[in-house]
Amino acid sequence: MRLAGTAVRKKRDAAACAELAAPDPQALLAWYDRHRRHLPWRSQPGVRPDPYHVWLSEIMLQQTTVKAVAPYYIKFLKSWPTVRALAAAKLDDVLKAWAGLGYYARARNLHACAKAVAGQHRGVFPDTENGLRALPGIGGYTAAAITAIAFDTRAVAIDGNIERVITRLYAVETVLPVAKAEIRRHAETLVPQLRPGDFTQAMMDLGATICTPKKPACALCPWMAPCVARTRGDQETFPRKAPKVEGKLRRGASFVVTRADGRVLVRSRPEKGLLGGMTEVPSTAWSRDFDEDAVLGAAPLKAKWRRLPGVVEHGFTHFPLQQSVYVASVPAKTKAPAGTRWVVLAELHGEALPNVMRKVLMHAGLGGKPRI
Ligand code: ADE
Repeated sequence: MRLAGTAVRKKRDAAACAELAAPDPQALLAWYDRHRRHLPWRSQPGVRPDPYHVWLSEIMLQQTTVKAVAPYYIKFLKSWPTVRALAAAKLDDVLKAWAGLGYYARARNLHACAKAVAGQHRGVFPDTENGLRALPGIGGYTAAAITAIAFDTRAVAIDGNIERVITRLYAVETVLPVAKAEIRRHAETLVPQLRPGDFTQAMMDLGATICTPKKPACALCPWMAPCVARTRGDQETFPRKAPKVEGKLRRGASFVVTRADGRVLVRSRPEKGLLGGMTEVPSTAWSRDFDEDAVLGAAPLKAKWRRLPGVVEHGFTHFPLQQSVYVASVPAKTKAPAGTRWVVLAELHGEALPNVMRKVLMHAGLGGKPRI
């Protein structure tokens, strides 16, 4: 009965939504012209922005709010009005001025980037996404945002706010992060040839002020009519996220041992069962009654084991895991115990490492980001 009801509703929704007009970028631009936020790094309408200002603000806004960034942005511009001035600053002074914004790697990259632009680009920021991405601290999103805003060149910048807008507009049912490719395809159809910089900032403003996570102000939205989720009335349920991991917490420990010649000890998991056949650093079983006091009895070899602070958290489909990580170093000639092997660190990425092991290795200061 319930299933039939859902099917009927879906059919009705699909019919209602098929009638909707496509969202018009011009409607968003018209809204932006009236309601744009006044932010210190934003140029006045019709005024070409200074790429240095755009870059500085985008780096500061990575993982930080508009409100927190504003005073820092003003302070930085006062101290270092140009990218050459910032490049000539002492790193220590830059780090001091950054204090309080968090994620200090960003401040180091900011300085390294200013030096690269001053030293290798005659103080002129590259005007393409690829050129920008080659600079320290500039990833895909930031490169696209700078390209669009500073150079008014078509580029697709998608942050969390914009993801929310798009998933509602098109009622994207796929869960994040799998939905990212689908969201990008939709976004690509929206960015106009004319005024892509204003369009990008309009999307940011719409996400921040109207299409908010809770209680979106749909009545004020320039895209209310074409919004599929709004038409269905379930706009607040987007973006879809993977359901929270159920099941009882299990715990365990991993042993990350490195050999003086740059190798790490790994083994293959049994073919049958969870993560069958995949590579792992030697680890205990994952259990609900894991006994941390007895853990060194499970270490793969004798060494001066040191427990790293904190735990690695991971969500399997049927249980959440907290994994302690123990590290040790051993001499170059140390033999691999039965069932284990030494792998050259640089070749670790070629191994079939499950995400939980990527996280363990990252926690131990080895290896790259986990794949999502
Ligand atoms: N978030 C990231 N970049 C932004 C920008 N340029 N304006 C407002 N919010 C942002």
